Amino acid sequence: MTAIVVVGSVNADLVTRVPAHPAPGETVLADGMTVLPGGKGANQAVVAARLGGDVALVGAVGTDAFAAAAVPGLRRAGVDLTALATVPGPTGVALVTVDDEGENAIVVVPGANGSVDATAVGRHVGLVASADVVVVQGEIPTAGSEAAVRATTGRVLLNLAPVVPVLREVLALADPLVVNAGEAWRLLSDAGRPVPEGEPFAVVDELRDLGPRSVVLTLGGAGAVVLDGASDAGPVVVPAPVVKVVDTTGAGDAFVGALAWRLAQGDGLVDAVRTAVRVGAYSVTTAGAQPSFPTADDELPSLSR
Ligand code: RIB
Repeated sequence: MTAIVVVGSVNADLVTRVPAHPAPGETVLADGMTVLPGGKGANQAVVAARLGGDVALVGAVGTDAFAAAAVPGLRRAGVDLTALATVPGPTGVALVTVDDEGENAIVVVPGANGSVDATAVGRHVGLVASADVVVVQGEIPTAGSEAAVRATTGRVLLNLAPVVPVLREVLALADPLVVNAGEAWRLLSDAGRPVPEGEPFAVVDELRDLGPRSVVLTLGGAGAVVLDGASDAGPVVVPAPVVKVVDTTGAGDAFVGALAWRLAQGDGLVDAVRTAVRVGAYSVTTAGAQPSFPTADDELPSLSR
């Protein structure tokens, strides 16, 4: 039995730093480029494994040179890769630009991630069904994510990053649905629902009305708001530690991977989020996605306010 199964994307990240993101039609020069392992699914699997979780990944890489950049980080973290397929064609690639504020802009070319459909996930139904927590995101075909959610007998952590259309009955199994403010806005707009401006409590209420069992709205440096359907507590604010931001790339993945780890360990949702915001904060203090994730031995920033 594997405690956490992540069904998701594996990318090679081509990362550049620029003083400011280019405006439409503008060209800017960068000092250089690094190739790092990435992909939201891989990142989440890596952080959960580094923190001590028993983690497997269902996904795919291609047959090009980028596969060699994408996979070693997973292997080093101890993620079970028996369900990672190699398919003919290119590996997923992410073009990541980070500005002087540490904010990122990302374009993803899915490549092999596009092969992780319902058939591909169906080959690993036993693995998915054996997990305490199954994590899915929006970088593989929706049919693949939906097949994973349907096969889950444990808890579904649905991270709609990026936002993709999902069936209502699939959304209804999310416990929790995790989105950031921009994703919440997109999800509610696409559902034709009112989008409350600057009112996180109203946003989580609206998101909960879409059907998930619980909702976690991440707010970057402002922490997160949790609405747990199994509790009468109403929305709970979880503040984040104050840290110096170097690079936000992968912070959401650090949060989700840590959340999956704590939920698999038996924490309640709010307690799990308290750890996840600290792991997310840790990750923004150094550059890159996977290179910025803590291990179980690293000291996390504390919630001192
Ligand atoms: O969330 C960060 C990740 O998004 C990057 O690693 C990139 O691969 C994209 O998937």
